[in-house]
Amino acid sequence: MVGMPGITLVLGDLTTQDVDAIVNAANHTILGGGGVDGAIHRAAGPKLLEACRRVRKTTFREGLPTGEAVATTAGDLPARWVIHTVGPTWAKTIDKSDLLASCHTRSLAVADEVGARTVAFPAISTGAYRWPMDDAARIALATVAAATTEVAEVRFVLRDQKAYDVFAAERERQGV
Ligand code: APR
Repeated sequence: MVGMPGITLVLGDLTTQDVDAIVNAANHTILGGGGVDGAIHRAAGPKLLEACRRVRKTTFREGLPTGEAVATTAGDLPARWVIHTVGPTWAKTIDKSDLLASCHTRSLAVADEVGARTVAFPAISTGAYRWPMDDAARIALATVAAATTEVAEVRFVLRDQKAYDVFAAERERQGV
């Protein structure tokens, strides 16, 4: 059934979500990092890094471009897949909103390719990549709400109350 996914907001830890796929805010190497990337690799165990290394040896030999997405198995996580995407870094003078939107559309397209019906996103780019939370929420919610996908449920999993409240206010404003 293709349509717009239902959207839910969760205050919590992305790595504990019982969904088909969780989206990782990765970097171009997709070989791990800090933030949610680090939390996912810690929770998934070494099998995830092995799967990422295989992706680097095959489909993305130069690394994963910003705005692109790729799925791997999820190691010891409750989820079946990790969908790695690389968010844009915030820059005052350059509008990279289309790349942040692309992280969401490409992740949903990859979810459709693997048959994931429930997908959990973090607030991509809002940590080390310094994207303002309210603008990230605006882009993430509008992009997912407008997506044509077989994904039935999209969860945005926010790590702290402040981020949750920003997403909730933006969701209210957009009516999605
Ligand atoms: N669950 C949900 N959200 C989390 C978790 C978690 N366990 N841990 C962190 N977050 C939140 C952060 O609070 C932030 O709001 O994820 C959001 C994204 O922050 P980062 O993880 O720093 O990701 P990003 O800003 O996209 O920067 C990516 O950081 O970790 C490195 O390898 C990564 O180089 C890449 C860069």
